[in-house]
Amino acid sequence: TISACIFDLDGVVVDTAKYHYIAWKSLANGLGFDFTEEDNERLKGVSRMRSLEILMEIGGVDLDQETQLKLAAKKNEEYLEYILKMTPDEILPGVKTFFEDLKAKGIKIALGSASKNAMTILEQLKLTSYFDAIVDGTHVSKAKPDPEVFLKGAELLGFEPANCVVFEDAEAGVEAAINGGMRCVGIGSPDVLNKANFVVPGFEGFSFETMESGLNK
Ligand code: BG6
Ligand code: MG
Repeated sequence: TISACIFDLDGVVVDTAKYHYIAWKSLANGLGFDFTEEDNERLKGVSRMRSLEILMEIGGVDLDQETQLKLAAKKNEEYLEYILKMTPDEILPGVKTFFEDLKAKGIKIALGSASKNAMTILEQLKLTSYFDAIVDGTHVSKAKPDPEVFLKGAELLGFEPANCVVFEDAEAGVEAAINGGMRCVGIGSPDVLNKANFVVPGFEGFSFETMESGLNK
């Protein structure tokens, strides 16, 4: 039986990758190199500090710890400027209808995100009240594919991992769910998310029944 659904935030509930991209790009440009949309794909689901490491790798630059912390903070300031302009219109299509469907069926909803800005984003989208439990980048010490973020969510709700379904758009996130003993619905392309139990392009037309039949295949 399914008792709870745990949602990743970035790339599942909302497309924040475009804002991360603008902010990382301007940081890269400031350091004297370019950062492409293709490069940005590598940062999906990856923590802020690990993202900066990957960016440094791309630019072939080496920075000391203190500078890295300063630049990550600067990137976040720019990112926040975009986040604080977000409105509920940016909730991805079908997400809210699916949340309502889950509520009506008594299924609990949790957040499992690597982002330290998750609360701000949920507030901007006016979605906070839908969540029975919220676990974000401020609560965890181990990054996906470690299952910590999802296991904490299940624990807060009081359910076993086997009764939780995770929704993820990043490979590391799908692995985290599977590592935690949960089933996972991939949001995106089946080529990338081949470890998920099944993959859908998004939530448009998605319902509790779609989820159940997909998982029982
Ligand atoms: C993840 C995003 O959800 O959160 C990553 O997919 C991001 O791209 C990570 O780097 C950390 O986010 P934040 O908001 O704490 O910088
Ligand atoms: Mg994501």
